[in-house]
Amino acid sequence: MCNLGHDHHANAFGFLVDAPEIRALISETRRLSREVTDTAARVEALKPAFAKLLAAEGWLPDTCSRADEKSGMGGGIGQYALYRAEDGSLCLFSLVVPSGASTPVHDHLAWGLVGLYRGRQDETVYRRLDDGRDPAHATLEIAKQQTLARGEFYALLPPTDDIHYVKTVSDTASISIHLLANDTACVWRHRFEPESGKVTPFRSGYANAPCPPEGARQ
Ligand SMILES: [Fe+2]
Repeated sequence: MCNLGHDHHANAFGFLVDAPEIRALISETRRLSREVTDTAARVEALKPAFAKLLAAEGWLPDTCSRADEKSGMGGGIGQYALYRAEDGSLCLFSLVVPSGASTPVHDHLAWGLVGLYRGRQDETVYRRLDDGRDPAHATLEIAKQQTLARGEFYALLPPTDDIHYVKTVSDTASISIHLLANDTACVWRHRFEPESGKVTPFRSGYANAPCPPEGARQ
C-alpha cells in the first residue's frame, strides 16, 4: 500500500498496490516490450490498455491519492509507486499535485504514457535549443501548451517533448498516472529553470518506497 511506514526492501518492488487492473496493464506492457521492438509503435500499441486503467474505478487507494508535505518535488506533490520492476526497467506511479501547485520543469528520460485520473492540469512542454553538452545549462523555449482532463493522456518518447511542467488548474488536486520505462523517482533526472537556463540534477523519490543505494544499479 502507499503508506508503508517501514521501508523494507521486500515491500519496495513489484506490485506495491496489488489490483487486477494494475496487473493487467503491467502484463500487457511486458508482452508488448517483448513483441514490439520499435518504441513508438510499442507505446502506440499500449494506449488501449492504459486508457482502460484510467477509465477504471476503485483500484487506486486513498493513501496514494493524497498530498505529501515531505515531497521531493516541493509544493506538497505526492509521488507514489504502484508497481516497480526491481531491475529499474519499468514503473507505474501516481502523482498528486495539489490545486494551484506546479511541478518544477523536469525531464523523465524514459518512454511511456502519462494520463489524468482526477482533476485537470495545464501542461507546458519545452524544446531544447542547445546541443545538451553543458550539464549545467539548457536553452529552452516553449514548444506547446495543453490542458488535460480526466481520461486524457500523452506519450513520452524522449528526447522529443521530454521536458515539461504541469500545474493543477482544478479546484481539487490532480492525480496523474505514469507508466514509464525506468524507475522514474529513483533516477537522477534534471530540473530546469527556463529563464536563467540553469540545470540541476534531482531525484524526486517515492513517498512510499526507498530508492536503491547509489551505484546498486548499472
Ligand atoms: Fe512529468
